[in-house]
Amino acid sequence: MSIGHPQLIEAIASEIAASGPIPFARFMELALYNPQFGYYTRPPESGTERIGWSGDFYTSSDVHPILGQALAKQARQLDQLLGHPDPFTVVEMGPGKGLLAKHFLSACRSREQDSFSQRLRYVLIERSPAMRALQQANLLHGLVEPGRITWVESLESLGADSVVGLFFSNELPDAFPVHRIQVDQGQIRELYVDYDGTRFIERLQPPSSPDLQDYLTRLNLSLPDGYQTEINLDAVRWMAQVARAIDRGLAITIDYGHTAQDLYGPDRAKGTLLCYYSQMTNEEPYVRVGQQDMTAHVDFSTLATVGEDHGLHVTGFTNQMSFLMGLGVEEMIAHMDPEGPEFRAAIHLLRPEGMGRTFKVLIQHKGIAAPTLDGLTFKPFFGTALAVQSAA
Ligand SMILES: C[S@@+](CC[C@H](N)C(=O)[O-])C[C@H]1O[C@@H](n2cnc3c(N)ncnc32)[C@H](O)[C@@H]1O
Repeated sequence: MSIGHPQLIEAIASEIAASGPIPFARFMELALYNPQFGYYTRPPESGTERIGWSGDFYTSSDVHPILGQALAKQARQLDQLLGHPDPFTVVEMGPGKGLLAKHFLSACRSREQDSFSQRLRYVLIERSPAMRALQQANLLHGLVEPGRITWVESLESLGADSVVGLFFSNELPDAFPVHRIQVDQGQIRELYVDYDGTRFIERLQPPSSPDLQDYLTRLNLSLPDGYQTEINLDAVRWMAQVARAIDRGLAITIDYGHTAQDLYGPDRAKGTLLCYYSQMTNEEPYVRVGQQDMTAHVDFSTLATVGEDHGLHVTGFTNQMSFLMGLGVEEMIAHMDPEGPEFRAAIHLLRPEGMGRTFKVLIQHKGIAAPTLDGLTFKPFFGTALAVQSAA
């Protein structure tokens, strides 16, 4: 089996030759986002795609437009709560192929040109030029007036307190590079990646940053010896930047993940890092490097805590099934033939043993009083689950 894209392997190997073994997070950063050869940054070979039914994995928006439609409904409710600001800004980060944006914008247009769609401004934040090109191909076809849709490369391009409206992402922080650690005699050690001339090799070394221990300390976690897991420091920085950018409005984060208690509990003692290739998962990050996706489950407790520290308060935490039900999915699917493929696709997103419960929805607010949101009508089993446990 190939160890990966030849020029990417060369680039990673030469960085290791120059600096010594690199933290796994750096390896993952290069594998996914090396500017020329990374999995997300390299234009797909002709006739192939990364995300989609013929790609390596699919997301909710490949299945059915109801998630985009539900987000549009939630945005309209927020618009009302904010007093119909002009512009009402929607920022979507990590938009993949742009399908969710397409569904969102189509849902906004499907009513007559009302005041909301005229005040709507849509900003897509995408770090990969190849993904940006795909999004533009999918979106610049009269869905929205030219000038009302824009792209930026990073969240830093948005000014502090510049967004009045909605910030959202689907499957974004799971795609951030993660540090991998192992507990050894009560101390954390970090997994580094070395190269022996033919393949990548793991080495355990002292942590590359004190932020790794601080992360666990903030969660009040003490992990047993031998425990292996991931720490997503980029998600911490990201949440702080999201909070900074919002003046008044909501942040909605949809992704697979858990509360810290579950993510760092005994059931996941080997971590959650997974690779996706051709709709199959594997646990081999050192093969097909740059040719397969890599991802780790999201720690929603940390997103909640970091948000709170920056004035972005938890409105609620639910799952995709409950979010869609609160926003009227039953009405949306009522006209579909229960035996037909469209109905089956929509139900796929709701399935309690599948995407309906695997995907969680964290909603946070800033600059407004805690709102009562349709998307949070059903909060099945979470309660105060996101709260960090205090020391015994
Ligand atoms: C797993 S895909 C998400 C797909 C998409 N949201 C959907 O629903 O189909 C992750 C996307 O996030 C982008 N991305 C990853 N890190 C990013 C960052 N720091 N800033 C902007 N985009 C990022 C990737 O290039 C890719 O387009």
